[in-house]
Amino acid sequence: MTGFDEKLFAGRTVMVTGAGRGIGAAVATAFLRCGAKVIAHAGRDLSHVEGDLLARLPAGSRANLTLLTGDLAAPDGGAELAREILSHADAIDVLVNNAGTMGGRIPTGQETREDYDHVLDLNIRSVVALTGTLLPALRRANHASIVNTVSISGRQGGSAGSALYSGAKAFVSAWTKTLAKELAPDGIRVNAVSPGTIMTDFHRRYSTKEKLDATAATIPMKRLGTAEDCAPAYLFLAAHTLSGYVTGQILEVNGGQLMP
Ligand SMILES: NC(=O)c1ccc[n+]([C@@H]2O[C@H](COP(=O)([O-])OP(=O)(O)OC[C@H]3O[C@@H](n4cnc5c(N)ncnc54)[C@H](OP(=O)(O)O)[C@@H]3O)[C@@H](O)[C@H]2O)c1
Repeated sequence: MTGFDEKLFAGRTVMVTGAGRGIGAAVATAFLRCGAKVIAHAGRDLSHVEGDLLARLPAGSRANLTLLTGDLAAPDGGAELAREILSHADAIDVLVNNAGTMGGRIPTGQETREDYDHVLDLNIRSVVALTGTLLPALRRANHASIVNTVSISGRQGGSAGSALYSGAKAFVSAWTKTLAKELAPDGIRVNAVSPGTIMTDFHRRYSTKEKLDATAATIPMKRLGTAEDCAPAYLFLAAHTLSGYVTGQILEVNGGQLMP
């Protein structure tokens, strides 16, 4: 990635969840490139870090990276992770709530109590709990920013079997806007990035090649997105110098797939 100031986040502490692979790994790497200290929640364990996040690291930036793990689908997972973060940092300048997934394609009417709990605990409950527990640390920072990862499916509905997940992302979109109003007096901005169809392990798990090829053909830019396509949107929304008057917004990154 080029075009970003290597000192844009110098002296700033950035927390990214779900950063071991995929979009989160590209986001964490981009913040490191711009001089931040990054606390990265790698995922449930460190198994993907070597092949993804660590493989992308800019030279000399490993010392600025702290790796944590934790299951965010566990009922108290968000608050537990937040408590661990607070043992590493007193003030948090940027919080990126990115960890999430669909948890399988679940036909409506066939969802079990476990499916329901898993999708909502991971994509909603952990985000709300992590953010709430970190609020004092965000308030201690100057010009703090929260950037949530939502989804095109939260706005226009996802494909079959993604109803719980898509509904959860719509929840986080509305929650983002409400939080933006609530936290504006504290000087904390709250926005979200809404990726379209991005080629990460997410779609390697949930979509066939035929489905992805058909989707790509409908996108004005005629290709699926990459994690690197998404990362600059997070930098923009996190940087007070670039987006200091932007709050409560959902930034769509989708090659023109949706133009709301
Ligand atoms: N790819 C897309 O097209 C797309 C589109 C719209 C929105 N999104 C959203 O973008 C975000 C990143 O997705 P991605 O495409 O980068 O997918 P990904 O490569 O599968 O990465 C998902 C990240 O979330 C973490 N995660 C999943 N379940 C977890 C759990 N129970 N506890 C803790 N961490 C967990 C994963 O950790 P593990 O390694 O432990 O699984 C991983 O770090 C997600 O919120 C996703 O919903 C993706």
